[in-house]
Amino acid sequence: MYTKINNFQMYYDERGTGLPLLLIHGFPLNHMMWEPQISSLSAQARVIAPDLRGHGSSQAAPPPTMESQVYKMQMHADDCAALLDDLGITQPVVIAGLSMGGYIALAFLQKYPERVAGLILAATRAGADSPAARDNRLKAVATAKESGIGAVVDAMTPKLLSLATYNNQTGLPTRLAAIMANISLDAMIGDQLGMLNRPDSTAMLDQINVPTLLIYGADDQIIPLEDMQIMRAKIPASELHVVLDAGHMVNMEQPQQFNQAVREFLQRKD
Ligand code: MLT
Repeated sequence: MYTKINNFQMYYDERGTGLPLLLIHGFPLNHMMWEPQISSLSAQARVIAPDLRGHGSSQAAPPPTMESQVYKMQMHADDCAALLDDLGITQPVVIAGLSMGGYIALAFLQKYPERVAGLILAATRAGADSPAARDNRLKAVATAKESGIGAVVDAMTPKLLSLATYNNQTGLPTRLAAIMANISLDAMIGDQLGMLNRPDSTAMLDQINVPTLLIYGADDQIIPLEDMQIMRAKIPASELHVVLDAGHMVNMEQPQQFNQAVREFLQRKD
């Protein structure tokens, strides 16, 4: 479905009834990464999975402030809040974010704490980028400009999956690459600059007063386990699930275990 919010056409998938569960995808992905969750969790919740601006089927649109096309995490969070407004959802929702989606979920929580009933943070971190990570983002921006989106996707695909998934599980690497390729150049560059400039959210962690489920793939090549453990130690009502035989895309690589953890979390909230 499409709706016009914040001066662009946003695509979102919505299925099920009950407690709203907002799924925020990672970079450079779109709502299709959540297909195993949308189909299963919609039996228990009202699942809402948008394509962030410039991703998937959502229009690319310049950021509201003209400063250099940076897609700030806060801008994506504001777009998600506008979608909830558009859907008439005033009750607090459970927000799930994977990786960049987690950065956005924390930005959402910071600005709209009263709209959040629970948090699910997967394969993400609260800290800001290290200098090395910033350099890598600038290199990825240069690659995207010079060689196109496909070159960035090709370089990223093996890193987003566990080695075993990449080598053995037929179909998933190809499917993941196809989802990632469906991004505008604006979003590919804007997200990288937005992530590079995102603030450190570590100081807010001990103020989080909603139940929080942390999910991590044991073979994640992008986020070290320590980053998830920091969140587990600081967020008061949090629990950490480490899923074996999964990398960064833990929800796609081990959907049954991921969904089971989410289902139990949602049941405790009913
Ligand atoms: C993601 O999966 O969203 C990105 O890898 C996050 C990042 O680049 O920090």
